[in-house]
Amino acid sequence: MASVTKNLTWDPLEAAGAVDANVLASAKKREIKNILKSYVSNYDPLSELIQNAMDAVEKRFSSELSEKPKIKVVVNLQENSIEIIDNGCGFEEVEFRSFLAPSISFKSGGETRGNKGVGVTYIAYGFNDLTIRTKNNFFIYEGVMRRGREWIEDQAGTVARPIIEPAKTNSSAFDALEQGTSFKISFSGKHVRPRVRTHSQ
Ligand SMILES: Nc1ncnc2c1ncn2[C@@H]1O[C@H](COP(=O)(O)OP(=O)(O)O)[C@@H](O)[C@H]1O
Ligand SMILES: [Mg+2]
Repeated sequence: MASVTKNLTWDPLEAAGAVDANVLASAKKREIKNILKSYVSNYDPLSELIQNAMDAVEKRFSSELSEKPKIKVVVNLQENSIEIIDNGCGFEEVEFRSFLAPSISFKSGGETRGNKGVGVTYIAYGFNDLTIRTKNNFFIYEGVMRRGREWIEDQAGTVARPIIEPAKTNSSAFDALEQGTSFKISFSGKHVRPRVRTHSQ
């Protein structure tokens, strides 16, 4: 059979976006799994969230000094949760919709602590219960994402791909701020470190 050489030009990254939806979904899961592998310490959630909070307050207060920069860390041993609250820049809606996806960063390098864009991907898909609150003059939202880690580890296809849904829960530290962002992780569900301590452990 005669072979046909086609004289084509294309962008492989664009072409990858046009493959079958299932192949694309598996690729996303694999990409996130690889990110999760690079996080090994029980302190990683704290350090990623504190670094982002520091960048957020620096972004806001580099131009305006009307308020003091504030970052609060709340560790609740009864709930097995941590919450990091900052009075920083908050989000624009377009940023907020996409920022949990792998490799999305709105930092330009320079003086910021991060710009790899994987920190919050780990926060969202490394755990099973994330509450995010944010407010500024342009955009206000409070919501939850559940079962991120269980979806990542699910081989049988029984866990639905996680979505962010509106939720209203209390955070007195966040409510006390005029502007800012709060991330709260409850350490629950499967495949999560640090694990919930039970009486038998
Ligand atoms: N506390 C926060 N306040 C405002 N924006 C935030 C906050 N945390 C994260 N972000 C936004 O989400 C983006 C993605 O965060 P992340 O995945 O940690 O990547 P990186 O810090 O490397 O940019 C950041 O670039 C920033 O724009
Ligand atoms: Mg970061």
